[in-house]
Amino acid sequence: MPQPLKSKPLVVVTRKLPEAVETRMMELFDVRLNADDHPFTAEELASAIKTADVLVPNLTDTIDAGLLAQAGPKFKLIANFGNGVDHIDVAAAHKRGISVTNTPDVLTEDTADMAMALIVAVPRRIVEGARMIREGRFKGWSPTHMLGHRLWGKRLGIIGMGRIGTAVARRARGFGMAVHYHNRRRLHPDIEAEVEATYWESLDQMLARVDVISIHCPHTPATFHLLTERRLKLLKPTAYIVNTARGEVLDEKALIEMLENKQLAGAGLDVFEHDPAVNPKLLGMDNVVLLPHMGSATFESRVNMGEKVIINIRAYTDGHALPDRVLPTQG
Ligand code: DGY
Repeated sequence: MPQPLKSKPLVVVTRKLPEAVETRMMELFDVRLNADDHPFTAEELASAIKTADVLVPNLTDTIDAGLLAQAGPKFKLIANFGNGVDHIDVAAAHKRGISVTNTPDVLTEDTADMAMALIVAVPRRIVEGARMIREGRFKGWSPTHMLGHRLWGKRLGIIGMGRIGTAVARRARGFGMAVHYHNRRRLHPDIEAEVEATYWESLDQMLARVDVISIHCPHTPATFHLLTERRLKLLKPTAYIVNTARGEVLDEKALIEMLENKQLAGAGLDVFEHDPAVNPKLLGMDNVVLLPHMGSATFESRVNMGEKVIINIRAYTDGHALPDRVLPTQG
């Protein structure tokens, strides 16, 4: 049972957070903020965990076993500002008695909006059309001008039917798409019925039958390159692929080759395998919409994420169970 801390914990925050969040943290904790928002170096991370009680990192910080080995005796909590924890060695932290928390739920709807935006934008060529206008290339309407593909009546295959996947399914129903999904566990029948979803235990079988794939599973050792070249080749050449989860879940090199060879119709990518690096080949493709990892980037979600971080730190300092604790098997 964790014991309450007697004094304010020393909390190191690795990136600039919304002002409201930083101010509240200053009121509650002994905080070291990152005023100029520079990404922390490995040395800065090490120096932080040697002295702090709590680290508030984010997906740009790599917290591996080597770094955790340098933790000081007071360091007991990694309160991640974000949902994904694939940049943290959760098992190594756990072994050292360091807890990890994340910020689930509060970015679900915003990320689902962005996935849906890409699901619409790629087949309907929205970004290509917008670029045409700005570049002065629009010469007037014609019956064969800028034809894309209809979403209504098409099949959407969702990989990872957690909170975000389910939120995308609800949106897709509104667009007249039939929802198919692959998940480690089948959903409760009530949720399946609500979104009229078809469950596929076999990812391979689902891939061959859907028109659009949207990825919503976390990146873990088990999902690294879940979409291998072999699996991508199961998709129809008319299929689209959307990724707002993590770039590592699909083999980006294989995806690019397939797009170049017209073995896939297009892609909408908010994340990249070597984030933030974007393969230059993708930049030249009209049938690809690229976004700079902005799925959850709303003012509202960032403030809500900060509130979650604060609640988790408060729970820790007060000796309560951590509301958003991440266990090694989830990480
Ligand atoms: C997360 O929280 O993991 C998201 O990818 C940030 O947008």
